[in-house]
Amino acid sequence: MNDPTIAGLVRPAEATFAAADRDVLASYWHPVAYASEVAEMPLARRLLDVRLVVFRGEEGICVARDLCAHRGASLSRGSMDGTTLVCAYHGFRYSGTGACTGVPSQDPSVPISRKLHLQTFPAVVAQGLVWTCLRPPAAAPPPSWPGLPLPGWQTMEMPASTWKAAAPRQVENFNDVAHLSFVHRGSFGNPSAPRIHEYRVDEHADGLEFTLRYPQVDRDTLAQSPEVISDMTYVYRLTLPFSTLLSIIAPDGRILNVYDVATPETARQSRVHMLLSRNYSTGDPTAPAIEFQSYVNNEDRPVVEDQYPEDLPLDLREEVHTSADRMSISYRRRLAALGLTGAWVA
Ligand code: FES
Ligand SMILES: [Fe+2]
Repeated sequence: MNDPTIAGLVRPAEATFAAADRDVLASYWHPVAYASEVAEMPLARRLLDVRLVVFRGEEGICVARDLCAHRGASLSRGSMDGTTLVCAYHGFRYSGTGACTGVPSQDPSVPISRKLHLQTFPAVVAQGLVWTCLRPPAAAPPPSWPGLPLPGWQTMEMPASTWKAAAPRQVENFNDVAHLSFVHRGSFGNPSAPRIHEYRVDEHADGLEFTLRYPQVDRDTLAQSPEVISDMTYVYRLTLPFSTLLSIIAPDGRILNVYDVATPETARQSRVHMLLSRNYSTGDPTAPAIEFQSYVNNEDRPVVEDQYPEDLPLDLREEVHTSADRMSISYRRRLAALGLTGAWVA
């Protein structure tokens, strides 16, 4: 049985979520960093209004509340001494289990209080991301995607980006199909193909799936000609609440997988991790593809950050829907079924 609430982990002045919605989302795994980022320095992160520190201990990657057990300093201001996290205030030392292993101000023969222990959360690494759950046991596992890297494929980590938008807004945009011919005219969108043909959304226990054909401007670097159009198949697999794998399949067998996960730092700010994996051009430099995908994401971001209301309306009567919006209708329904209210700011 989950703890009833995680409100006690949030500094009151920093609470942005309605407490009930925060508790629902705290029962899921969310990524807080790429595993490759967790290196010489502790990382400061925020998840569901909770300040976290992420570091690499001897036992593996540790996710803990960013709060020293001595005088409440932020541990992310500290440093690493090998696999030991050292608080910047009085130098207390912590192992990857969260146990305090050294108190410089007292004689080493004095036993260390067992109360000097960090509040830790489970951490798993999958797809190169560090996932954590603030209210274990989790309601569902992380997305059941095949582990990365796929053999023979080339994997790229996009730099994590901050969106001043609610996570469900980012996710709905990533799964929205009617915007491609408009927002993405400067990259892969085909202005001559605004019409979205009927598609079916399959409901799964952990999420939603649908397939769409789209005559895309066939390029994945800005240097390529925007003249070639290819009839792509897009397969979207959304894992609730905020993870999507989009497979872009070309008629000649080229596949680009785009993994998109929005982490709700606050009710209206998200950290977006994205990975690309492709089965073609696997020996090419990655920079042009990363630059192109950043360009695409930056076509979306200002639109999403500007949407009103800021929170995704989960009551379907609040907005007007067309047949192209089938996916977003299903997504809003499923978020509501998780117990979210959509009235997210306390
Ligand atoms: S507050 Fe961290 S060592 Fe004192
Ligand atoms: Fe988009």
